[in-house]
Amino acid sequence: MNLNIGVIKGDGIGPEIVTEAMKVLDKVADVYGHTCNYTQLLMGGASIDVHGVPLTSETVAQAKASDAVLMGSIGGDAKTSPWYQLEPSKRPEAGLLKIRKELNLFANLRPAILYDELKGACPLKEEITEGGFDLMIMRELTGGLYFGERKTIEEDGVITAHDSLTYNENEIRRIAKRGFDIAMKRRKKVTSVDKANVLDSSRLWRKVVEEVAKDYPEVTLEHMLVDNCAMQLVRDPKQFDVVLTENMFGDILSDEASMVTGSIGMLASASLNETKFGLYEPSGGSAPDIAGKGIANPIATILSAAMMLRFSFDLDKEADAIENAVEKVLKEGYRTIDIMSEGKTQVGTEKMGDLIAGYIE
Ligand code: IPM
Ligand code: MG
Repeated sequence: MNLNIGVIKGDGIGPEIVTEAMKVLDKVADVYGHTCNYTQLLMGGASIDVHGVPLTSETVAQAKASDAVLMGSIGGDAKTSPWYQLEPSKRPEAGLLKIRKELNLFANLRPAILYDELKGACPLKEEITEGGFDLMIMRELTGGLYFGERKTIEEDGVITAHDSLTYNENEIRRIAKRGFDIAMKRRKKVTSVDKANVLDSSRLWRKVVEEVAKDYPEVTLEHMLVDNCAMQLVRDPKQFDVVLTENMFGDILSDEASMVTGSIGMLASASLNETKFGLYEPSGGSAPDIAGKGIANPIATILSAAMMLRFSFDLDKEADAIENAVEKVLKEGYRTIDIMSEGKTQVGTEKMGDLIAGYIE
């Protein structure tokens, strides 16, 4: 099979971690008889440096023409990078939001799994993580506060900033359906997270999710307020299967969920639209403080490439091969610095990629 993959290496640690994911993909292609054709795309700071804007329409068109896009991370240090002297709509993050919107990537899947081997890196007490956990954050990605009307004005000499949070029932219904579909392939439980005790958008969210649930009688639906969910994630993460939530809540909860797995460097993600197309990226940021040092953890990006094979190309065996290789390397005791613990072998970004590629079979 020919895999036409757009690649956004991005900023900070992006190029380092994507290079390792491509190495692993090439090994998979080699072993399973596929061909990966990569098209390099510029986005974020890397695009600002060349084109003056974080995403050009040409790049959007190239992304649309690929079967899937693999991405590293974008953005720099807000205090020191010249990118942050630009107005907000020209900064690196604006490129990411624009590509999500342009490609209609409304469903963001962020799996948080506690690997047995990484229990040592998990900050929670052992009695809480006993038996591990495996949850999926299903985040709405093209609506809500991120895309509502935004302005800063001066009223009677007082500066006032506005951000608006809007959802229509169709936006809620399509992400809810995705959440229930995924739950059917997992442990058949959906926890829908909102702030229905305060927000109108959350009350509509709850109503629509309940309607959708009627088509999935096998799935248990539970509603949870977002503040309680933040607490429950560290009190008892095992209770969750699919966590279905809106854009902003999903942004916050997914960082929290990643930390309880030991490191944000382990968390993959897929952003999908109604077709097979997807954008695959690690959930973590560009980590400018460690960029270029060769110490970043490439596993989240490598696992994102596995999600790409699974969701965009229906190559389940190949995706399994990557996931198994990651587990094997962890079992053998290899660790990047973020997940390092006593008695393990510390390796850099490149070595980690080599090891995982070496275990593809
Ligand atoms: C994420 C990131 C982005 C978001 C930022 C970089 C705009 O935090 O993918 O979670 O908030 O969606
Ligand atoms: Mg985030």
